[in-house]
Amino acid sequence: MTNFSSNDYLGLASHPALIEGATHYMARYGAGATASRLVCGNFPCFTDLERRLAVMKGSESALVMNSGFQANVSLIPALVSQGSLVLADRLCHNSINQGILLSRARLMRFRHNDLDHLKELLTAHSQAYARILIVTESVFSMDGDRSDLDALVELSRRYHALLLVDEAHATGVFGHQGMGLTCGKDVDVVMGTFGKGLGSFGAYVACSNELREYLINFCSGFIYSTALPPPVLGAIHAALDLVPTMDQERSHLQGLAQYLRDGVQEIGLSTGNSSTQIVPIIVGEDHAALSLSQGLFKQKMVAAAIRPPTVENGKARVRLTLTCQHDKDQVDRLLHAIRTLSKS
Ligand SMILES: Cc1ncc(COP(=O)(O)O)c(C=O)c1O
Repeated sequence: MTNFSSNDYLGLASHPALIEGATHYMARYGAGATASRLVCGNFPCFTDLERRLAVMKGSESALVMNSGFQANVSLIPALVSQGSLVLADRLCHNSINQGILLSRARLMRFRHNDLDHLKELLTAHSQAYARILIVTESVFSMDGDRSDLDALVELSRRYHALLLVDEAHATGVFGHQGMGLTCGKDVDVVMGTFGKGLGSFGAYVACSNELREYLINFCSGFIYSTALPPPVLGAIHAALDLVPTMDQERSHLQGLAQYLRDGVQEIGLSTGNSSTQIVPIIVGEDHAALSLSQGLFKQKMVAAAIRPPTVENGKARVRLTLTCQHDKDQVDRLLHAIRTLSKS
């Protein structure tokens, strides 16, 4: 099968350096972290990783979390509570929505990437809340489009709101040294993951020293969970050695994604506003997405059908993702199959 549903954008999950890093750390530190870091203390590889991340992200500090889902679910309730207001992009990931629900803050969603709508909500409601949190993603997981981070930073400053950006699908792929689109931008809190572009598992929060100290003591996902296994840290360190050197792979990946988008659009199908390695074919009805996905599967191509509630009603799609290991021949075969299936 050719996999067009993987988030291993740089092909690092099977890279020999990550396997060696994990093996080496396993031999040196063991298979497990044995307890929460707050209870048991740190292996130095955790604090080394956090220092390294802060330098690469251009933030004052960083904190490693066990997964992106866990980070969002416990970070947001640490930042806001009942009596706060959260303004979230309508297409934010489920983990963000769950975190907001758990926080018991008031939630208002702004239309996807519509910063005029966000501004309207800020103007109408900012006076009534002592704390406001704006949440968005730098690359949207199901649409493959991006947010306007400069405008978001400007709005958050003007209305004294905190800005949280999820970089799950940008980490490894975009920005300075591939470390995300928030690099060099004045974003208060950044969450990024190691399980997609970095080929391993886990997540980080990049933030100020003060916020890191606060999260260590108030972020339940950090406090009440066994830390990541050391072999995972070994793989992450190895990925961070490689990612800054992978400009060629990133440029191949984005070139191929553009080629795929052009091909899909030529067939007469919509790729929405995708401008990244995530290329949805938005077909509308659930059965159309399922039938395209099943047709591709029969031709030995994995391309997941994504349906409501993961995406909005009437916007079912086949979500294609490319990695730098795909080549033009594979994309040509995919396009040929899509063309044939869309006619049948
Ligand atoms: C935007 C976004 N945030 C967070 C997550 C969760 O990350 P993880 O897979 O590390 O739990 C995902 C993964 O699906 C995601 O797409």
